[in-house]
Amino acid sequence: MSGERGFGVDIGGSGIKGAPVDLHKGDLADERFRLPTPEPSTPAAVADVVRQVLDHFAWTGPFGCTFPAVVQHGMVRTAANVDESWIGTDAHKLLATATGRQPLVVNDADAAGVAEVRFGAAKGVQGVVLVSTLGTGIGSALIVDGQLVPNTELGHLELDKHDAESRAADSARERDQLSWKAWAARLSRYFQHVENLFWPDLIVVGGGVSKHADKWLHLVETRTTLVPAALRNSAGIVGAAALAAEHHHQH
Ligand code: BGC
Repeated sequence: MSGERGFGVDIGGSGIKGAPVDLHKGDLADERFRLPTPEPSTPAAVADVVRQVLDHFAWTGPFGCTFPAVVQHGMVRTAANVDESWIGTDAHKLLATATGRQPLVVNDADAAGVAEVRFGAAKGVQGVVLVSTLGTGIGSALIVDGQLVPNTELGHLELDKHDAESRAADSARERDQLSWKAWAARLSRYFQHVENLFWPDLIVVGGGVSKHADKWLHLVETRTTLVPAALRNSAGIVGAAALAAEHHHQH
């Protein structure tokens, strides 16, 4: 059965992707459309690309949008891996003006986490679910009985005198040319620290590298069950679309 449609946009460091979403199935309703992230990735330049993505599908309704930083009620508060000029930007105002549509902007890992809990690897799991996305940085989503606690930023825990993501993100594996085993040892240290603080019932691991989970996930030692994400690179789009649709219905 297919159902109501929403729309999700995923703003990343290298690409801005979007697609209509089947909100019943939690799946893309059409092929994703991707444009490169402009350089420099200033708010105005990015907003214009978001408009082009919406125009490509002639989508006029409300839409959800991910952003790789803290987004508090539409206000961008940090910029770990994006242009610093975003800090202090009212992303809702910016995107509403640039696109003429109604946006809901959320942290990228939060969007992916919501998608995994509603439709993916943590579907129907009650209690405390932690979704961790391993990419350029480490994103986190904390979901308690289906309810998101936004902007947890667990990639920036200080661990062994380092910002955790600078040692354990997938970009650190590439930069330091680590074997799967050596990287898994860093991830074990990271996830053991996180599980001692939050005691999650389940940890879902996402990000592009979760595609190769068979190579390394079994090497990560945790008390908590670790499972790979199910929605892979559509998770952000699907989660953002779902959150935007709910928000729109409530307001
Ligand atoms: C940012 C988070 C983001 C994560 C993944 C981190 O560096 O602080 O907000 O979710 O990267 O993009």
